[in-house]
Amino acid sequence: MSETFEVGLLGHGTVGSAFAELLDARAPQIETTTGLRPRLSGVLTRSRGNFDEILAASDLIVEVMGGVDPAREYVLRALNAGKHVVTANKQLLALHGEELWAAAREQGVQLRFEAAVGGIVPIIRVLSETLAAAHIDRVTGIVNGTTNFILSEMARTGESFGSALAEAQRLGYAEADPTADVGGADAAAKMAILARLAFDTPVTLDQVVYEGIEQITPDDLEYARELDLSLKLIGTAARIGSGIAVRVHPAFLYSGHPLASVNGPFNAVTIEAPAITEITLSGPGAGGPQTASAVLGDVISAMIPPASTPETSQRLEIVTDLESGFYLHLAVDDEPGVLAQVAAALGSHGVSVKSLQQKGMGDQARLVMVLHRGPERRFFAAIDEIAALPFMRTRPRAIRVIEEEFGV
Ligand SMILES: NC(=O)c1ccc[n+]([C@@H]2O[C@H](COP(=O)([O-])OP(=O)(O)OC[C@H]3O[C@@H](n4cnc5c(N)ncnc54)[C@H](OP(=O)(O)O)[C@@H]3O)[C@@H](O)[C@H]2O)c1
Repeated sequence: MSETFEVGLLGHGTVGSAFAELLDARAPQIETTTGLRPRLSGVLTRSRGNFDEILAASDLIVEVMGGVDPAREYVLRALNAGKHVVTANKQLLALHGEELWAAAREQGVQLRFEAAVGGIVPIIRVLSETLAAAHIDRVTGIVNGTTNFILSEMARTGESFGSALAEAQRLGYAEADPTADVGGADAAAKMAILARLAFDTPVTLDQVVYEGIEQITPDDLEYARELDLSLKLIGTAARIGSGIAVRVHPAFLYSGHPLASVNGPFNAVTIEAPAITEITLSGPGAGGPQTASAVLGDVISAMIPPASTPETSQRLEIVTDLESGFYLHLAVDDEPGVLAQVAAALGSHGVSVKSLQQKGMGDQARLVMVLHRGPERRFFAAIDEIAALPFMRTRPRAIRVIEEEFGV
């Protein structure tokens, strides 16, 4: 049996309870990958657990309590005791990040915080590792899922801010006290952290200028639709001359902007730098299981030496018999019966047509169709049969159609 890796859990709410469950489920695989068996050394809430005992029994502390006090004291004490810390606490980092990072550096331990911004969207890792060498000019983000959901609902239904907020609360996207979300403070804390990483300079929450979305009316959204604009709560951190500006405010985006199509409770961040042009990362910005997954990813990173490629823990089957929808382009002789024979070939292999257009005449005649999703091997068998039909002028052209829909 391998050695254990003891994880002390501070907080057992939405994220903490999902983390405890996930750790339990993934422990065998993590053990195979890292050679260490992770397990909970203790759990602290307001009603159970003792911090000192948990700290003494842990190799790493996960802080998912939220708030500044006593989270700050617990995280500092853990770092100073030489323990790695993983936190999802944006407020704590936006106010006291420098102090905590300094303690981690001094002790040679890791302070990881992927879940503090963008939930499971791996923006912290990308900014601090992948793009460590890029000279970043600007970071633009939708970093609060609650406000993005509310604005998307207002745009979709024409309803007021108040009723869209009530819907967000009903669905669990907004808290009972939504002030920090709708007023922009939550997004401001996240932008302070992103700016700190992007520009390698201290940035604290009080340096971020922010506005919320409480004043937005259905008229604004209607106007936006007419002009093909979408309204988002946007955070920007940008180089301005030799300084930087970090702000959060509602903004209209043209439809071509990478953040314009991010709807519902999703987060997305666009990073611009001359060497990389632009990168946009997007995905679920909150939620217990999603956030817990980012926290556990950080725990695993703290368990393994950063540069190693861990041994695989399993051997999964490589699947090649996939399903796809297809676009099919057939250059055919312009004569009666062509369509019937093509349809018969498709039908005999169980391939069905979603849409069909006949284009051109004479030696320009073509059939262009989109086929319903189905097993690729059946589709290719049908294509071989069609390719051999006497009226085909060239080999059929087929392109897969990706029809999965994401988002709400
Ligand atoms: N929820 C999300 O989707 C999400 C996404 C990204 C980041 N985060 C961050 O993750 C953290 C946790 O969020 P959450 O939604 O899981 O919060 P939550 O559901 O309110 O849970 C907080 C937990 O911390 C405990 N706690 C709070 N203050 C404490 C204290 N003084 N002493 C001991 N225990 C204390 C609570 O104990 P009791 O059970 O006794 O009250 C509860 O178990 C926050 O920093 C949040 O910003 C959350």
